[in-house]
Amino acid sequence: MRRILVAGNWKMHGTQAMVKSLLEGLLAGSQPGGNVDLAVFPPFPYLAQTQALLQQSPIAWGAQNLNPVAQGAHTGEVSASMLLDFGCRYVLAGHSERRTLYGESDADVADRFEAALAAGLEPILCVGETLEERENDETEAVVDRQLTAVLDRCGVSGFQKAVVAYEPVWAIGTGMTASPEQAQAVHAFIRNKFDSLDDIIAGQLRILYGGSVNGSNAADLFAREDIDGGLVGGASLKVEDFLAIRNAVA
Ligand code: 13P
Repeated sequence: MRRILVAGNWKMHGTQAMVKSLLEGLLAGSQPGGNVDLAVFPPFPYLAQTQALLQQSPIAWGAQNLNPVAQGAHTGEVSASMLLDFGCRYVLAGHSERRTLYGESDADVADRFEAALAAGLEPILCVGETLEERENDETEAVVDRQLTAVLDRCGVSGFQKAVVAYEPVWAIGTGMTASPEQAQAVHAFIRNKFDSLDDIIAGQLRILYGGSVNGSNAADLFAREDIDGGLVGGASLKVEDFLAIRNAVA
């Protein structure tokens, strides 16, 4: 049985005071056990503080991006080994904001995914279509292209220790959540693609939904067969909102 993962992507938000109160609130309010894993994705400068607060807890943490190069003259960049040094378990790869605002191509995303795996991090590969692509009936073609770029590089076995997050760009930060039916349809498409390559890996692969997940819509989304949790933006910045999503897991 796949465990549900509720992951909070804080994006470029936070202060030391906010990190302390948010993480202390999550530690106090999240009941351990059940079929749910929690993870948070703070900005790089708060990884040390996150490690210090969470290291004895069941809550995992990760980073929002990495540079695929091991080390060297790359001013402003952060490598996989640095993330491991701060106890990260996960790293996002190919978030739509990285793709659209910072020009990361499918090949760049594959570089990051590959470097994360090689270092022993669990990459969370983010895929998803824009509104225009959905309206042009290109959702499956776009998601297929984004997945294929990584599959061609790392093979299906690269997803043995990885997560996929379906995040329709039109649903991110807009309050326009995909309906459970819309999300399930794309999740099933993703799982079928993996199933055609390796049915065991496909059956174990966690596929998260992201895009305006909140305490009111999470239960309906997570109840769908192929939706194994959420990648949460805005609602991960408040203890009660994030815990409401966690508690929506049946
Ligand atoms: P929101 O939950 O704010 O829509 O953000 C989703 C997201 O991009 C998570 O990575």
